[in-house]
Amino acid sequence: MVKVRFLLEDLLVEAPAGTPLQRIADAAGADITFGCRTGSCGTCRVRVAGGLEHCSDPGPEERDFLKGLEAPPDQRLACQVCVHGDVDIEYLGP
Ligand code: FES
Repeated sequence: MVKVRFLLEDLLVEAPAGTPLQRIADAAGADITFGCRTGSCGTCRVRVAGGLEHCSDPGPEERDFLKGLEAPPDQRLACQVCVHGDVDIEYLGP
């Protein structure tokens, strides 16, 4: 199991390693708004404040989308991330 902390709500939940972050956020009732859920709208943008190395690597579409926003490397689209270790997540929004 991995620990996922949603910083804005100070909410700590556990999930099996490899679980999509959007599934964890939905199940926990975390305050992250999802739109397309396919990596194309940016509504779910988060900052991985801790454990970035435990996130799945971004695919080319997510990488291109975030590059277009000039987002720093610690920012990800929550709908595109699977969690493989403990992480701290801060919701940023679009
Ligand atoms: S919900 Fe649209 S990019 Fe994640």
